[in-house]
Amino acid sequence: MGAHMNIQIANSPLQAELNASTGRFTDKTFDWKAFPSNVPFPELARAQMRYIGAGGSPKVGDTSTLPAQNFTLSLIYKEPGRYAACHSHEIEESFLIISGALIVGWEKDGEVVEVNLGPRDMILNAREVAHGFRVDGVEPVLMSISVDVGKPLPPVYRYHPKDCPSELARTFGAEPGKTIPFDRQGTHPMQQQMSDYVVRHSELPTIWEDAGFARKVYVGSAPGAIASTTCRKEMWGVPSRTALAAFTRPVEDAVMCLEGSIEVVWVDDAGNEAVVELGPRDMVRTPAGQAHFIRNPGAGAATLWTVIGQSDDDDFTFQAG
Ligand SMILES: [Fe+2]
Repeated sequence: MGAHMNIQIANSPLQAELNASTGRFTDKTFDWKAFPSNVPFPELARAQMRYIGAGGSPKVGDTSTLPAQNFTLSLIYKEPGRYAACHSHEIEESFLIISGALIVGWEKDGEVVEVNLGPRDMILNAREVAHGFRVDGVEPVLMSISVDVGKPLPPVYRYHPKDCPSELARTFGAEPGKTIPFDRQGTHPMQQQMSDYVVRHSELPTIWEDAGFARKVYVGSAPGAIASTTCRKEMWGVPSRTALAAFTRPVEDAVMCLEGSIEVVWVDDAGNEAVVELGPRDMVRTPAGQAHFIRNPGAGAATLWTVIGQSDDDDFTFQAG
């Protein structure tokens, strides 16, 4: 690693803005009452930690989170035996599994396709497709949810335990015999539709950049990625002692550290730097037009989840710093 030419000024306005754009896992709390219609039903219990916007929660006035621009970002925690009632909404919404195994079901006309997602798998719930999820495993699920619009409309519930038997709500509306397993080769139209919206980490190509880090594109225009007109989503693997050169996007981006640690650096026009180090479940959102880069000065590799506020490709090549 060469010496850095840029200068970091403690307590600079740039540093203050970067700090204000950082969401720390340890500064936040999980909200068990984020979804008021679920509160009377212990079987629906889930907790939400908000980083950007409110996601599907009506708690849009929470001042401890960043106001959403092109996307929201939150963590959801759910324990074994719990589920989320089948609902639909007008926006796209992604579930990235961080730990545990999550069953996601899509329902249409009483038939349900169910997929089991593991760590680093993702589903993009398509617009107006009814979906629910459930934890059948022995460990809780932690996942990152992004809604690809700042303020979604409230969900429309299809099979909620307030309106239908609990057993039917738990299967997302499927009567016995009406649940279909996820299968990329399946011939059922719902199997084929869901296949276009499920990404498994193990199936995605790993793209090594000349700058020395790896990307897997979950949502975007790369091979294996889900096509979308809203936001791009990528997982980055950043080896120890890797640093990028500064880059600028025309939209905001968010970087959440999943494993290891990483420095996010903002640079002003004079070359002054502001720096934060992120550990697991810490996040920085960088606004449109802000020059920034990442570097990993530590001994271990870092795994990052990044959401970019438009689906188009960037017209730049990452450079080593
Ligand atoms: Fe949803």
